[in-house]
Amino acid sequence: MGYVDDLFSVKGKVALVTGAATGIGRMAATGLVQGGARVLIASRKGDACEAVAAELNALGAAGSAEGFAADVSTEEGIAALVEEVKSRTDTLHILVNNAGVSWGAKLEEFPYAAWAKVLNVNVTGLFHLTRELLPMLEKDASIDDPARIVNLGSVMGTQPMADGAYSYTASKAAVHHLTRTLASEFGERRITVNAFAPGPFQSRMTAFATATDEQAADVASRNPSGRIGRVDDIAGSTLYLCSRAGSYVTGAILPIDGGESVHHGLRLFKE
Ligand SMILES: NC(=O)c1ccc[n+]([C@@H]2O[C@H](COP(=O)([O-])OP(=O)(O)OC[C@H]3O[C@@H](n4cnc5c(N)ncnc54)[C@H](OP(=O)(O)O)[C@@H]3O)[C@@H](O)[C@H]2O)c1
Repeated sequence: MGYVDDLFSVKGKVALVTGAATGIGRMAATGLVQGGARVLIASRKGDACEAVAAELNALGAAGSAEGFAADVSTEEGIAALVEEVKSRTDTLHILVNNAGVSWGAKLEEFPYAAWAKVLNVNVTGLFHLTRELLPMLEKDASIDDPARIVNLGSVMGTQPMADGAYSYTASKAAVHHLTRTLASEFGERRITVNAFAPGPFQSRMTAFATATDEQAADVASRNPSGRIGRVDDIAGSTLYLCSRAGSYVTGAILPIDGGESVHHGLRLFKE
């Protein structure tokens, strides 16, 4: 294996990616399978996870995938997911906390239940799944090759823009802060903790605004880089953080947003 291939390889590692039958989770899982990892894909729709795993296995890549049902919105669901992971592997090198939900409504009409629903999956589920999986993550973690946790934040957790998704933006800001908090504690456990803060990518969650080519082009036209995100953007960042290349990186909130997080309309001296 050449130097670069080896540096970014995740060969032989076992990963769990929640919510990976669709969207950004699937992009992360694709990168990991291409990089040589064995990837467990879990979300509520077990059939969809199995189908995507079969598609990833058909890529002829160095790694493999397996899919099954799991629900991170309840304590029981998290416990069942942990048991399922334990039944398949005794060690876990990579955890991608990707499962997430959103809700958009006018401020005056924002439903009480929608606040709890979003925080429950995006923050509570992420925290408790991570906590429950710590022994498996620590098992083979070392100074030279720490275990990796990648949480899904968002540019909406960095920039004050809600677009009606009030609980979502609050949840993603919480994910960013929790990422830094856990990173500060997990160094001595030999686990890195980082977050992605993506801008717009096509997915089920963003289908209301990106499903058609016309909609996607409209969103792209407002991005400083002139496009929306692609599979390679997530796959590349995932491989970086989860391979030897990223083993000294922890506590980072990585913008994968074409510049949205540093873009503002302010001008001090020029029109
Ligand atoms: N797309 C974007 O532009 C964007 C930007 C920034 C951040 N993000 C973040 O990226 C992550 C993935 O979102 P996405 O955009 O790819 O949307 P998506 O296609 O809707 O993916 C979300 C995934 O989460 C799973 N999920 C939802 N509730 C779950 C639960 N209770 N238990 C287990 N799995 C659950 C869903 O699968 P099931 O329905 O089968 O459970 C689905 O596969 C989210 O955390 C999102 O906030 C997305």
